Amino acid sequence: MITKNGQSMNINDAVNIADLKMIAKRRLPRVMFDLLVGASEDERALEMNLARLREYSLVARAMRGAAQRDQSTTLFGKTYSTCFGIAPTGMISILRRDIELMLAVAAQQANLPMTLSGVSAEPIETVAAHAPAHIWSQLYAAKDPDINADLVKRAQDCGIEVLVWTIDMGAPPKNDRLAHAGMGVPPRLSLGSKLEALTHPAWMYEYMRGGMTKIGSWERYVKPGAPSSEALAFFMSQRFGALTWRGLETLRQLWKGPLIVKGIMHPDDAVRVAELGGDGVIVSNHGGYGLDRAPASIDMLQAVVASAGHKLTVMFDGGVRRGSDIVVARCLGAQFVFVGRATLFGVVAGGVPGALRAIDILKDEVDRTMGQIGCSNGDELRPEFVQC
Ligand SMILES: Cc1cc2nc3c(=O)[nH]c(=O)nc-3n(C[C@H](O)[C@H](O)[C@H](O)COP(=O)(O)O)c2cc1C
Repeated sequence: MITKNGQSMNINDAVNIADLKMIAKRRLPRVMFDLLVGASEDERALEMNLARLREYSLVARAMRGAAQRDQSTTLFGKTYSTCFGIAPTGMISILRRDIELMLAVAAQQANLPMTLSGVSAEPIETVAAHAPAHIWSQLYAAKDPDINADLVKRAQDCGIEVLVWTIDMGAPPKNDRLAHAGMGVPPRLSLGSKLEALTHPAWMYEYMRGGMTKIGSWERYVKPGAPSSEALAFFMSQRFGALTWRGLETLRQLWKGPLIVKGIMHPDDAVRVAELGGDGVIVSNHGGYGLDRAPASIDMLQAVVASAGHKLTVMFDGGVRRGSDIVVARCLGAQFVFVGRATLFGVVAGGVPGALRAIDILKDEVDRTMGQIGCSNGDELRPEFVQC
């Protein structure tokens, strides 16, 4: 991206998340950028997330002081510097080498939680060692109960305190963008994509060194030394088993710490999570990567808070690109908010400093928005500020 004075923009010039997205776009081959910004089928659910979130207005209250603002948030016994964290994103090592480690370091430096995807390139042990107090673990339950038990034990052995079980994909999603680009699972570039990728030398150099498509967390479940495609194929064969409430009961017995269910959209399902001993839910439609006919997650938040907010911790993700999006979600009852693509844009654009830039931008916007509506801390953020 070219700035007004004709210079190419770098992360320090980025004023907002959209700027970081443009810098990330410049660095990535087209098919990789599609992986980052795209979603399933017509991308309706993704667009709904973005469009509906923007439709909520905040009505400022007058004369409330709020000269000093505090956005720090205490969650499951830990106090973080802000009210948002990094959502789990899998298969991202193809975007940038060591991307998960970079996000983990940024999360630790910024003092906010990062949820490591169940299909991380680096094994959970490696990432947790980089940011021992800031990693949450996300699980895609396997068909084989012994693998689930092992994944849970590994997270526990790493000292991870919070487990997030993602339940919102009962069947494989259809990603038309990637299919058109000839990219399947495991990620393989078509000849056309390879030729286009040559115009992005920094990315191509990393890709040529190999290892950008591995899923390290699953390597131990295939024979030692097997190619990364084998671990991925095995994961895919395990992934889309029947998801049932019985699975939550089992997980509750295995995991002693806070247990969060991610991908809840219906208020009755949130109540069921509470009845079965879950500690929290994340209202989420997987950033539009799953059911394309899903409503915007922000539109389901209030109903979930009303049904289960007094029984468990209700969190939210989907479509956050501005600090004011986070404030809207907090006002509507989310106790914490997660961002997926926003920090990915930052880390792809500029590694650890890029991820930190994304976090700083969002924190600054949260702070200004709180001040503008007259709130000095998170407890003051209430539905009364929101108009839709
Ligand atoms: C590239 C990408 C990969 C993702 N991988 C996972 C994953 O492995 N596990 C999971 O629970 N959610 C995954 N998600 C969904 C995110 O956790 C989150 O719900 C979503 O990104 C929020 O929307 P946002 O990107 O608009 O902030 C992924 C999202 C993206 C963009």
